[in-house]
Amino acid sequence: MTSEKRAVKYPWNDYSRKLSPLKLTVFIALFLPAGWTAIAFVTGNLGARPLTEAIHQQGLWTIRLILIALAITPLRAILQWQRLILVRRMVGVAAFAYVMLHFALYITDENFNLVTVASEIVKRIYLTIGFTALVGLSVLAVTSTDKMVRRLGRKWQNLHRLVYVICVLGLIHYSMQSKLEQWEPTIADGIFVWLMGYRLLAWKFAVRGRLPLPWVAGLGVAATILTAFGEAVYFLIAFAGRVTLTTALGTNFSLQLGVRPAVVVAAFSLIVLVAGIARTRLAPPPRGRARFA
Ligand code: HEM
Repeated sequence: MTSEKRAVKYPWNDYSRKLSPLKLTVFIALFLPAGWTAIAFVTGNLGARPLTEAIHQQGLWTIRLILIALAITPLRAILQWQRLILVRRMVGVAAFAYVMLHFALYITDENFNLVTVASEIVKRIYLTIGFTALVGLSVLAVTSTDKMVRRLGRKWQNLHRLVYVICVLGLIHYSMQSKLEQWEPTIADGIFVWLMGYRLLAWKFAVRGRLPLPWVAGLGVAATILTAFGEAVYFLIAFAGRVTLTTALGTNFSLQLGVRPAVVVAAFSLIVLVAGIARTRLAPPPRGRARFA
């Protein structure tokens, strides 16, 4: 049998063409957000402006899926869960599908007037940034097939590092359009800092492809502090003269303004750390050279 014929046939098959329960579960799960929006739309449960709400939901899932795709490499190493890599491409392609849906719904909202759509993209900087990210994701999706991976060889990995830039553009687009409501965008920013920080630290300090857990703990603290400061700076700018740095940072230690983004980032970091510790206790990392990175 040629290697061409041995290629994965269905999205839920693993490399040996056997059904992978992990891939099947993720494959089904990836349809749920769009399915939920479709049902809510048809049944009239998307609020007063259903199309706008549908655009928002697909945009949110695009950025969430990009972050989930970026989380696979660190989680695979920390949890020593090699097979997690099987779903990375699927999640990335789903992010592309969601952004196309987001864009298609935006075009629908503009009554399919492509001239207006194009001029809005040129005029409004947050749309220009979003569109640039969409073009980037399209390039990654087109080069995601087994054939393209083989054809591009080493260049493939360099090209796919574009996802970091695309994620930054997506996060800027998200923050800019959210205007005063920065709670979830700030959480997304904090998690992105953690994900990039992991890569930076793993590049320097990984042992057999795995960042030692004390570093993971330190990374959690750093990402939490940066998120708290990021939000404080935003408060200082948005409420100029009415807020001090101390009061802005103090909101993280009370529930007066609800659970702050830094607290959510701290919880995320702690959950990953505890899972990593539990995994190490159950099965210490292999002695040989692991291929986690
Ligand atoms: C990777 C690319 C993109 C990502 C990650 C993304 C993500 C998002 C997110 C997270 C939101 C906010 C959802 C919310 O607050 O509930 C949003 C809103 C929006 N996006 Fe995107 N988007 C992208 C590309 C685009 C493109 C190409 C367009 C159209 C040209 C677009 C148009 C919009 C519009 C019109 C809104 C709503 C703005 C408002 O109601 O004021 N996005 N997007």
